[in-house]
Amino acid sequence: MMIEQLEQIKSEFIENINNVTSNKELEILRVKYFSRNGIISVLFDKLKEVPKENKREIGKNLNELKKFTYSLFEQKKKDIELKYSSISTRIDLTLPPSQIKLGTKHILNQTLEEIKNIFKSMGFSVFEGPELESDYYNFEALNFPSDHPARDMQDTFFINKNFLLRTHTSPVQIRVMEKMNPPVRAIMPGRVYRNEAINARSYCTFQQVEGLYVDKDVTFAELKGTLVSFAKQFYGEDLRYRFRPSFFPFTEPSAEMDITCFLCKGEGCKVCKYAGWLEILGCGMVDPNVFNYVNYDAEEYIGYAFGMGIERIALLKYGINDIRLFFENDIRFLTQF
Ligand code: DAH
Repeated sequence: MMIEQLEQIKSEFIENINNVTSNKELEILRVKYFSRNGIISVLFDKLKEVPKENKREIGKNLNELKKFTYSLFEQKKKDIELKYSSISTRIDLTLPPSQIKLGTKHILNQTLEEIKNIFKSMGFSVFEGPELESDYYNFEALNFPSDHPARDMQDTFFINKNFLLRTHTSPVQIRVMEKMNPPVRAIMPGRVYRNEAINARSYCTFQQVEGLYVDKDVTFAELKGTLVSFAKQFYGEDLRYRFRPSFFPFTEPSAEMDITCFLCKGEGCKVCKYAGWLEILGCGMVDPNVFNYVNYDAEEYIGYAFGMGIERIALLKYGINDIRLFFENDIRFLTQF
């Protein structure tokens, strides 16, 4: 046995151990070098045959080789343990899984989706417009002249003299008509803002869905038919409703649609102010003045429009008595839907 032979075994071992990546490979290496018949043990056996004068030196080198290779082996063992322990020993695969709470769609989004689907099934397309709106679109082109008292119907957040946060989705009607020629049959959902006191029934922001249909022979009867069909699909076939005359600058004639109070079923209670009815939307035949603003020929075309508040529609469907619940994100409220 020669010193060079030991050196060669050493470098072979280093190469081998560097290639080890798993416990299985490490075990093969252990058997190859350190078992009873392994390379290192066999060398020790052979030490007996070494001539006396070399024994001391070779013996010393052999011991060093054993120590060196074994320390590399131990280090590798630790490395591998560390690499796998973080995953395999800390996770107890027999434990039952912890419950994952899945989120749900917010009830207002569910409501909007349902409203959209009903109108889409009746041939309406969907459009959206900006929340930061100009006075022109929010008021002027909707037939609210600048000194018209109807502007006070909605408390407005003004940004400056010409710009404001839209108080309703009706301005999107104007934007759609500017871009498209009749026939137009569209709904326009979106967020609106009003400078109102916050309480159980009103909030400073909410969502609306606007509707518009313009063609050559559109009638008020069609408007009623469409809205009743929508309301029945949304609230159920046995729904009771009524239309009341009303006023909006952009429609003539105008009406509001009521349905029976969800709480007292029409008997009269605090929620419906003892009327038995609750308003769900405003509507009417598009005022010819509005057509003039978008260059539609008011002699040739006629249309209807409507607008509803999504929060209100949802309050009435689910019997919720405080609009603020929609915005508080209380998990106890949200998970009910
Ligand atoms: N923009 C009205 C509001 O916010 C609602 C409305 C009424 C919209 C009548 C319409 C309509 O399109 O025809 O109070």
